[in-house]
Amino acid sequence: MSKTLNYQEEPITEALHSIIERWKDEEGNLIMIFHAIQKEYGYVPRNVAIFVSETLSIPLARIYEITTFYNYFNLEPPAENTIAVCMGTACYLKGAEDVLNAFRKEVSIKAGEHYSEDRKYKIEEIRCIGCCGLAPVITFNEEIIGRVTAADVASIVKEKSK
Ligand code: FES
Repeated sequence: MSKTLNYQEEPITEALHSIIERWKDEEGNLIMIFHAIQKEYGYVPRNVAIFVSETLSIPLARIYEITTFYNYFNLEPPAENTIAVCMGTACYLKGAEDVLNAFRKEVSIKAGEHYSEDRKYKIEEIRCIGCCGLAPVITFNEEIIGRVTAADVASIVKEKSK
């Protein structure tokens, strides 16, 4: 599936300098640096990754190897609202795909895309989050909502959106 990443320039802050300074000589430092960067910016901005690569003389490819290997790292800025639809087996069997399609339609995100054009919404497909008894399950801005049907989607978006 092809995916277009959204890039935006972020400021090189004092905090970023401190993060690099704090971790530059420690073993396993890249992971720690990017954890701190994600905490600082909410994701790993491309220009910040380039800055770290140049400052520490580490190839950018190595940095992307790490940041794309761990699902934890976001390479795109967060949306105002994140909807995550569980596509694990239990949820899938109870209609998660219909729920996912209903959310896509409701917030105008095409299949294969993750963000709405105005970046108000992001949709993610996730694996089992351990609430299979409530299948199909979604999270809306981290709030877990169970037994969701396609018919509930419009009211969930209306009620829960920031
Ligand atoms: S499969 Fe969806 S919560 Fe377990």
